[in-house]
Amino acid sequence: MIVVKTMPQIEMMRRAGELVARTLDLVEETARPGMTTADLDRVAEEFIRSHGAEPAFKGYLGYPATLCVSIDDEVVHGIPGKRVLRDGQIAAIDVGVKLEGWFADAARTLTIGNIPVEAQRLLAATRDALRHGIEQAQAGNRIGDISAAVQTFAEARGYSVVRDLVGHGIGQKMHEEPQVPNFGAPHTGVQLKAGMVIAIEPMINIGGAAIKFDADKWTVRTVDGSLSAHFEHTVAVTAGGPNILTVAARKG
Ligand code: MF3
Ligand code: CO
Repeated sequence: MIVVKTMPQIEMMRRAGELVARTLDLVEETARPGMTTADLDRVAEEFIRSHGAEPAFKGYLGYPATLCVSIDDEVVHGIPGKRVLRDGQIAAIDVGVKLEGWFADAARTLTIGNIPVEAQRLLAATRDALRHGIEQAQAGNRIGDISAAVQTFAEARGYSVVRDLVGHGIGQKMHEEPQVPNFGAPHTGVQLKAGMVIAIEPMINIGGAAIKFDADKWTVRTVDGSLSAHFEHTVAVTAGGPNILTVAARKG
């Protein structure tokens, strides 16, 4: 069942989304070579709790942290720990919060120091693939329109799209229906209605699409060791078009 939200409920989700965006901003400002991924996790958890919210991932199916920090060939769900960030790495930061019963979820891939040009291109393409997907989140369109937009854009640049993990509906639960794959055909799948809220989250690899799990049962990485990037926004489908909830509030 797909839960359709009212405008007041979407505004509640926007408050959670703004906190997610500000948390990512803070992590981005904080991250630099020499820090550990656990340092970033601590900063994020403190910030979220100081705003009366809870980290959504911590405790979810036993996940032990506030952030997922996935470096280089890690795709998603890297567990923060003693690992030190190094110049030239890319680090995908994924964070979710629960604020007054409502969830929001977003991710962006950060550059640590100076990164090689092929990594820069991958980040730009993944960010743009997400933007193209979001543009399709219109009432009357179908999920497949989003999926196809992401896939077409990423593959035109020679990259591959991870197929084993997908985006999702979100609301009073972190994962709701429908699934939002990053590959598929236009005009297929569930039809979007105003009031649906979805997390769109392309995971794009320089090499092949295949992934594997580490022994920790969480960390997902590319089988071929190629770099992977991840960007995600929580997006409300509204009569006025797609509305990104995981952005910081305008000042004033
Ligand atoms: N953003 C991730 C997702 O949508 C959530 C991380 S899973 C967790 O699946 F277990 F780490 F919380
Ligand atoms: Co998500």
